[in-house]
Order: sequence, then structure tokens, then C-alpha cells
Amino acid sequence: MRRPLVVGNWKMNGTRSSAEALAKGILVGLGDDVADIAVCVPYVFLPEIAQIVNNTRLGVGAQNVADKPSGAFTGEVSAAMLKEFGCKYALVGHSERRTYYGDTDQIVAARFCQAQEQGIIPILCIGETLSEREQDKTFDVITTQLDAVVNLAGIGAFGNAVIAYEPVWAIGTGLTATDDQAQEAHRFIRNYLAAKDQTVAENIQILYGGSVKPDNAKGLFAMPDIDGGLIGGASLDAESFLKIYNSVN
Ligand code: PGA
Repeated sequence: MRRPLVVGNWKMNGTRSSAEALAKGILVGLGDDVADIAVCVPYVFLPEIAQIVNNTRLGVGAQNVADKPSGAFTGEVSAAMLKEFGCKYALVGHSERRTYYGDTDQIVAARFCQAQEQGIIPILCIGETLSEREQDKTFDVITTQLDAVVNLAGIGAFGNAVIAYEPVWAIGTGLTATDDQAQEAHRFIRNYLAAKDQTVAENIQILYGGSVKPDNAKGLFAMPDIDGGLIGGASLDAESFLKIYNSVN
């Protein structure tokens, strides 16, 4: 059975003290062990947050990772550096990286491989824009995004990875995919993987992301192929993040 996973993506928000307070607030309210849980924090907060969550069930992750192991790549942070600070997960290919910072499918695939080289679990973010959905290209887009990573890393690599399906039109907009729309995409992703490796497909956690809130989480998480969520805005408040966490069934 797949264990649910709920991940917060703090994006570029907070201060040193608010980040610390948020992590502590989540820990204080963390009740029953119903799912895996983690927060992906800005790089500079990683050492401190990793220390706060040390020896607890709350994992810590980064929001990106360099596509190269080391060297003259100004502004990048390597997987080995992240590993040193207790980083368990790294987002790769978030739509904001793809849209604003030019992350191509090939760069995303290289970031995915770098994370895994260091034993960091990549959370591969994929999803279509509104115009792609309107042109009925959702499944083509998802296929292209997955192909790039499978071609570089191999299907076996998905045995130790997470996928987050995040329709771009639902991120930060207040628009959420309906439970059925999300399930349809998740099913497609799982079938894509199953055609290459049945076991990998059955075991991988596929998260939904895009305006998940305490009042819509339960319906989404009840869908058979949705294994939890990647939460942006609503993860910046410990109470709402924990409500979402407690919505897993
Ligand atoms: P949102 O962000 O929950 O604020 O829509 C989700 C994400 O970008 O991961």
C-alpha cells in the first residue's frame, strides 16, 4: 500500500524567525502518524529548519537542486551540499522554475538525477498550462515531461522518487482541478509508468498540487490515484497545513 505524503512548498516567503515559528508550529500540532510529511524551504533556512525537525517525523526538503555536481555554476546549490544539511527531498521542475527561470525538460531531468545521486528524493513537478488544457494537450505535455526524465534516469529511478501533478492554471490562482480532473491526470501518469514498470507504478506516490486548501483536500485525497498533496499558500500557516495533512484517508 502506498503511504500518503503531504509536502509544504514555502516558496520565497518568510523570515528567519517566521520560518522557525512555522516549523515549530507544525511540530507542536502534528498528531497521529497518518502520512509522511515534509516542508520544502528556502535554501538559507535549511540548516536551521533541519535542526528543528531533527529526529521528528517532519522531513525537510529544498525547492530546487543544481543540475551539476559541483564547479563554476554561480548561484546554484548542489545535491551534496543539500545532503549535508539533512535535506530529504528536493523539488525539481516546479512550474515557476520552468516558467520564470527557463528550466527545460532536459535541465529538470539532470536535476532529478543529481538529487538521486546523493540519496535525496526528487519530487518531480509536471503539469499543463491553461491553454494546453484548452487545446486538449494535457496528456501530451505530461508525456513529454515524463519522457525527458525516464530517458535520462531510467524507469527504475522512479522507484525512489515522487511525482507532483500540478496543473499550472491551478497554482496560486484559487482554481483547483476538480477531484475527477485530478484523478484522470493521476491515472494517466500511473498508467504511463505501468506500461514501463508495473511495480514502480504501483508504489510511487503521486501528489496533487494547485490551490489545495483545508476545504478541498479531503475530496482530492480520497481519489484512488492521489497519494497526497504539494501545498503552496496553505502551507504557510501551521493550522491550515495540518488540517490538510489530517485530510488524508
Ligand atoms: P498553491 O501552490 O498551493 O499556492 O497553489 C502549489 C505549488 O506551487 O506547489
